[in-house]
Amino acid sequence: MKKILVIYYSQSGQLKEISNNLIAPIKESDYCEIDYYNIQPENPFPFPWSGKSFYDAFPESFQQIPVDIIPPPKDILDKKYDLIIFSYQVWFLSPSIPINSFLKSSYAKKIMGDTPIITVIGCRNMWVMSHEKVKKLIAQANGNLVGNVSFVDRHINHVSVITIVHWMFSGKKTKLYGIFPKPGVAQRDIDAASKFGEIILNKIEKDDFKDLPNELYNAGGVLTKPFLVLMDQKANKMFSLWSKFVLSKNKNRSFKLFLFKIYLWLAIWIISPIVFLLFLITYPIKKRKIDREMNYYRGIE
Ligand SMILES: Cc1cc2nc3c(=O)[nH]c(=O)nc-3n(C[C@H](O)[C@H](O)[C@H](O)COP(=O)(O)O)c2cc1C
Repeated sequence: MKKILVIYYSQSGQLKEISNNLIAPIKESDYCEIDYYNIQPENPFPFPWSGKSFYDAFPESFQQIPVDIIPPPKDILDKKYDLIIFSYQVWFLSPSIPINSFLKSSYAKKIMGDTPIITVIGCRNMWVMSHEKVKKLIAQANGNLVGNVSFVDRHINHVSVITIVHWMFSGKKTKLYGIFPKPGVAQRDIDAASKFGEIILNKIEKDDFKDLPNELYNAGGVLTKPFLVLMDQKANKMFSLWSKFVLSKNKNRSFKLFLFKIYLWLAIWIISPIVFLLFLITYPIKKRKIDREMNYYRGIE
């Protein structure tokens, strides 16, 4: 029997549904035994979010400051797994606080050490730089990352910003005003997650994950676009300054977060369209470099 552990955190249930669908073919096989570990912070984050709590999560998310989590069950800590499916979401271009808190805890080393890990990301559309941070933390926990699948909202960036705000602040994954598309990962992508489970099952059978990244990519499992990567890189630089500013010693945290909120909206609605135009103009001369970078982030050769 192969022992598989699914580790996840999900507020709305979206990532839980993706993980369940992905794992379904593995669960149905008669030689895999599956355990689940739902990461839970001692003090749960709100869902739906209020405007205040949402922006308040920014500096600690970005600076990857951990919170206390409820310890994993003892039987999970004591087992040695053959594979871990690690499902996480992105908060402010970084792994969400509960995910980061687990990865930085002593439990991560105990559970993930010397174990193959496949990450499953469910986010709006910007995960690449966050994944670099997760790669580092998995390596620090002595885990062995063997593959990645990302699930994103495929609508254009600005539409997905409007719809996710509606979803996060109302708790309802519904069409805003009946006109906008549904927020988050499309139901057809969530339903189709099992195709990646089949690819993974094949690798478990052979006990060889070597070609997994290429196969997951060819099956449409690594969704990102060059412009989103560029925005992610640039925003990381700005978020680094902003998060340090908000956390700096002098008081007025709520005022500083108010300034950050204004910056964020300007960045999304004014700065990013200008950067997009510049990106389009310079794309032909930068194409080779961008292609190389994209293959690295996709984890393919
Ligand atoms: C505080 C916060 C910040 C977020 N920041 C990002 C982000 O930087 N990039 C992104 O693609 N999605 C972002 N999202 C969306 C989440 O990654 C995720 O898709 C959404 O919260 C649903 O996940 P769930 O399964 O936990 O409900 C953010 C969500 C929250 C609540």
